[in-house]
Amino acid sequence: MALAKVEPFAVEQWMDKYETRAKYNIAETCVASISLDDLKELSEDKISEIWSPSTKLTYGAIRGSEKLRSTLANLYSAKKPLDAEKVLITQGAIAANMTVLYGLVGKGDHVICHYPTYQQLYEVPKTLGAEVDLWRARAERKWQLNIEELKGLIRPNTKMIIINNPQNPTGAIIPKAMLDSLIEIAEEHNLIIMADEVYRPLFHSISPGSSDFPPSVLSLPYTKVIATGSLSKAYSLAGIRVGWIASRSSELIEACAQARDYTTISVSQLDDQIAAYALSQSCIHGLLGRNIKLAQQNLLTLDNFVENFRWTCEWVKPVAGTTAFIKFSKMGQEIDDVVFCEKLIEDTGVMLCPGSRCFGEEFKGYVRFGFCCETNVLDEGLEKLRGFMKKGYQTLPLAQEE
Ligand SMILES: Cc1ncc(COP(=O)(O)O)c(C=O)c1O
Repeated sequence: MALAKVEPFAVEQWMDKYETRAKYNIAETCVASISLDDLKELSEDKISEIWSPSTKLTYGAIRGSEKLRSTLANLYSAKKPLDAEKVLITQGAIAANMTVLYGLVGKGDHVICHYPTYQQLYEVPKTLGAEVDLWRARAERKWQLNIEELKGLIRPNTKMIIINNPQNPTGAIIPKAMLDSLIEIAEEHNLIIMADEVYRPLFHSISPGSSDFPPSVLSLPYTKVIATGSLSKAYSLAGIRVGWIASRSSELIEACAQARDYTTISVSQLDDQIAAYALSQSCIHGLLGRNIKLAQQNLLTLDNFVENFRWTCEWVKPVAGTTAFIKFSKMGQEIDDVVFCEKLIEDTGVMLCPGSRCFGEEFKGYVRFGFCCETNVLDEGLEKLRGFMKKGYQTLPLAQEE
């Protein structure tokens, strides 16, 4: 029997290899994680139990508790009410993405995926037999997309356009006007838009009043949209493994539910209850307030670092999310980012994530920083990196030409 080839998931392998031995993990994509004690501290509700120990540990509600699903549905209801039936709970956004793709994409389909991004979003459709084209956000356009390029990619069998907004690793956003153009095209060709919105609503450098501020795809006037999200990044709770799929379309949500039956049954009741507490009106504002403040403060520190090293670093400053994609070159030539990251962690214990290994060959010289860790970890990590820039950096090789 021929087994389907599954490409290694480069960024996850890199994180797995180094994150438990790193002394200064400044590659992490979660806002500094919190404990249940911290969560209670951030909440206005100090009385309710986060988890009730007398609850019998059954599977719980198969699609996720009514409480959690309606809380999430309300978060998507700003423009137009969303029903709790249109939300499915999953084990993190990774399972949400997998479920959507497993349920909706197959052989004969063509998928267009925003790039660079989390490898899962373009690799899994290929594994399922679909053809994939990449819709490139380019550094020279400040990581923005081009609608004419999208038009050129559409084929008669195109089924889905996948976007990641805010974008990992660049921290860029797809602005409102581009989202409007995107749905116009999707509507014209009857395409599904899937948006991995796992970094929402961590908008640290754009205000909701800005005309560019991106709404969720669920707030756009189009039904064939699916959003995935989770508690891991903007809400600092990766350890509970709770994510979700939400759609405006019953047909799409039911197709995802059918696929989910084969992989999930239900998500841990403990996790579900903690998630509902974190997203409740009494807690969400304190939690997001803490995280946006942390992101803004840490970004100033990272900005300072980039300014000091202008002779070798360049970036498009991130607008949202937890990451920044910084390019390192010497005399106009990119350095070997993989050797850089390997040597850095060996010599100093500072963990970064190499662009060309984790996001695609074309990102030679790029390094992903996760700057929303604890402030002291970023401060100390950057201090060590400064030391490395003075000593080991000059000896680093340049990236190999193809
Ligand atoms: C774009 C994107 N989607 C999904 C995930 C998976 O997140 P989780 O399963 O922890 O919710 C990640 C993690 O890095 C990510 O960057």
